[in-house]
Amino acid sequence: MPPLLEVHDLHAEIAGKQILKGLSLTIQKGEVHAIMGPNGSGKSTFSNVLMGHPSYKITQGTILLEGEDVTALAVHERALKGMFLAFQYPTAIPGVSVANFLRTALKAVLGDEKQAVKTFRKLLREKMEMLKMDSKFATRYVNDGFSGGEKKRLEILQMAVLNPRLAILDETDSGLDIDALRVVCEGINTIAANSDEKGVLLITHYQRMLDYVKPDFIHVLQDGAITKSGGPELALELEKTGYLSAVSATA
Ligand SMILES: Nc1ncnc2c1ncn2[C@@H]1O[C@H](COP(=O)(O)OP(=O)(O)O)[C@@H](O)[C@H]1O
Ligand SMILES: [Mg+2]
Repeated sequence: MPPLLEVHDLHAEIAGKQILKGLSLTIQKGEVHAIMGPNGSGKSTFSNVLMGHPSYKITQGTILLEGEDVTALAVHERALKGMFLAFQYPTAIPGVSVANFLRTALKAVLGDEKQAVKTFRKLLREKMEMLKMDSKFATRYVNDGFSGGEKKRLEILQMAVLNPRLAILDETDSGLDIDALRVVCEGINTIAANSDEKGVLLITHYQRMLDYVKPDFIHVLQDGAITKSGGPELALELEKTGYLSAVSATA
C-alpha cells in the first residue's frame, strides 16, 4: 500500500522567491503529523503548494497521493481526490451564505446524485451541532464579518461536510480561546484524526493545540525544509527551548 501522502524533495517559489528548499514528508493512513516552525519558515507556503495554489511554482520535487502523482493537478482536482486545506486566513465571500457555499462544495466533490447531497440539511445540522455552532450561522455570508474564531470553525465545518482523506490545517488554532480550541479539536478528532483511513497534517505555531489533537510525528520546518522530526515529545522540547536550540542540540 502506498502512503497516503508522499512529498519528495519539494522546491517551490513565489514571485521569483525560493521558499521551499527540498521538503520531504511521508504520511501514512491513520497518522497525524504536525509541522511547527517560526514565522516565515514556509508553513503556509507548503500547505498552499500541497493544495495546488496557482500563485506558487513548483521548481523541483513531487507530491504523491496514495501513489498517484498530483504535483501538476489543479486545486479542484486535488479536492476531488480527497485533499482539503483549512486556510490560515480564510477569505470573506459576501453574498454567498454558508449553507449555499457548503452545499455547492459538497456537490462538486460528490456529484449531484449522491445521498449526502440530498440529505444536506440534516448533515449540516449534525456537523454544526458537533462544532457547537448556532444554526443562524448557516444563513450568514461566508466569513463576512466573522470573528477569528468563527472563521476557524467554518473551516472545520467545511472539513466535516467534505470529509476529506487528507486534511491540511494551517494554524487552525490561531485566534481561538481555550473553549473554542477544545471544540474545534474535538471536531478534528471526530472527523479525521481518529480514523485508520485518513491522515491529518496540522500546521501550528504553538504546542497547546497538540494537547487536544495528538500527533504521531512532529516536524520542524525552518527556511523551507524540515530540519528535525520526532515524536510528540518534540513539541514540548520546542516550547521550552525554542526552534533553534532544538535543532542545534542534535545537529
Ligand atoms: N505572495 C507572496 N509573495 C512574496 N513572498 C511571499 C508570499 N507569500 C509568502 N511569501 C514569503 O514566503 C516566506 C514564507 O511565508 P509563509 O509560508 O507564509 O510562512 P509561515 O506560514 O511559516 O509563517 C516569507 O518570507 C514570506 O514573506
Ligand atoms: Mg503561515
